Amino acid sequence: MSFKVITADEAALYVQNDDNVGFGGFTAAGTPKVVPEAIARRAEAEHAAGRPFRIGVFTGASTSDHLDGALSRAKAIKFRTPYQSCPDSRAAINAGEISYCDVHLSELAQMLRYGALGKIQVAVIEASSVTDDGKIYLGPGVGIAPTVCQLADKIIIEVNAHNPKELAGFHDIYQPADPPYRREIPVYRPSDRVGTPYIQVDPAKIVGIVETNIPDGVKEFAHSDEVTMSIGRNVSDFLTAQLQAGLIPQEFLPIQSGVGNIANAVLGFLGKNPHIPPFQMYTEVIQDSVIGLLREGRCTFASSCSLTVSDKVMQEVYNDLDFFRDKIVLRPGEISNNPELVRRLGLITINTALEADIFGNVNSTHVTGTKMMNGIGGSADFTRNAYISIFTCPSVAKGGKISAIVPMVSHLDHSEHSVNVIVTEYGVADLRGKNPHERAELIIENCAHPMYRPLLREYLALGKKGHTPHCLSAAYAFHEEFLRSGDMAQTSFAAYK
Ligand code: COA
Repeated sequence: MSFKVITADEAALYVQNDDNVGFGGFTAAGTPKVVPEAIARRAEAEHAAGRPFRIGVFTGASTSDHLDGALSRAKAIKFRTPYQSCPDSRAAINAGEISYCDVHLSELAQMLRYGALGKIQVAVIEASSVTDDGKIYLGPGVGIAPTVCQLADKIIIEVNAHNPKELAGFHDIYQPADPPYRREIPVYRPSDRVGTPYIQVDPAKIVGIVETNIPDGVKEFAHSDEVTMSIGRNVSDFLTAQLQAGLIPQEFLPIQSGVGNIANAVLGFLGKNPHIPPFQMYTEVIQDSVIGLLREGRCTFASSCSLTVSDKVMQEVYNDLDFFRDKIVLRPGEISNNPELVRRLGLITINTALEADIFGNVNSTHVTGTKMMNGIGGSADFTRNAYISIFTCPSVAKGGKISAIVPMVSHLDHSEHSVNVIVTEYGVADLRGKNPHERAELIIENCAHPMYRPLLREYLALGKKGHTPHCLSAAYAFHEEFLRSGDMAQTSFAAYK
């Protein structure tokens, strides 16, 4: 390798105040680790010297504490997109200290190429290896790496020795041409490969290599509780019934599933369900449960943007790369989440809501309409274009003081026009073909917590007229009551009658 090997602190000197920096990786997987921490140290030193130092941070999705955590604590982020899930950056966003733009993950790469978000000065990428002629073989996460490598003037590469060189071949790097020259993306099955296993860059842009040997640090899942297990069982039973009714083809369809305990439980139940044939996944995140399903042959192929698996499972994968080589492909977020492909492949999409309203609108991002949780992520890329779009959530949060089923969502991410099915631990509301009156009946009866059903019916009775029977003055009574008393169950509609 003929590139200059530099320290992380030397690398950070290539980043200037006000620069836009594009980072590779997706979730903690393949996210650069030591250079963002060094940029944070540089920011702290500049601040101590009385000079401003804040950068724009562009990533594939959420990152890890090495990136969002370190840079947020150093007050080094002026602008952030498209998604984050770190407590420190969340607090800074909600305090107005970080300007955050919540963007669909599939759209960020093209938005950057279109120029709408300004110039990217520096790309920081984690790789497993780099060749002298500028071929970058990535680690376990892709995200926006190909695009920021193309757009940036300078590229810094963390070559992480923890990632085996044999990861080469797992990636399929493809960038669509931009309009008016864009053609169809020729992926017709989850396993189709259409690009190269590396990112090709001009070697002259690589200003230095930083050598590391650090695992991604993904934690194992907590054991699923009873509520999570019931949600998983309900989704699995619903899909079985759809299959048996001939509403899903007998070969089954590829699954997209979000990350987290609920997704883990859903996949666990689908994997164990003898009525569901071995299936494929076309998703943005492969988590621990998918690796188990691949080993058991219950999942036959997984296309993803990242391998977001716990360090223990990652080691098992790395020890057995030959087994997984023809079962996994890692793609840029622009392709793993591409609406054209989601629609073509006919994905069954399963994502999580914070709250849903009785007419089927979903809020995935804002707590009581004002506080950003994480962001929309890829949920809308998949939901809007799915064969069947499913949202799951526990019926209540905070020990029952919050109902996840409300009269009107306090923020809208997925409208009733895109949401097909809502599932809680109590049951399933299949909203397809239903008018708003029928939807409300199904959601209250099948999904709401029994404690909240009478209140929701009372609300419904207030707005007797119209296609969607809202009572606008009372639509946020649940949320207002929560802000007042801390308990939505105390809501009274007496004043509205
Ligand atoms: N109002 C207020 N708070 C609520 C709430 C509501 N309606 N519903 C849940 N919460 C709280 C929970 O109590 C919990 O708080 P705590 O951390 O203080 O206990 C928190 O919100 C969410 O819990 P968490 O365990 O983080 O849930 P999760 O891992 O299932 O995540 C989302 C749920 C919606 C935040 C997450 O799925 C997300 O960010 N989705 C948007 C992006 C997405 O869907 N990506 C998937 C594409 S792969």
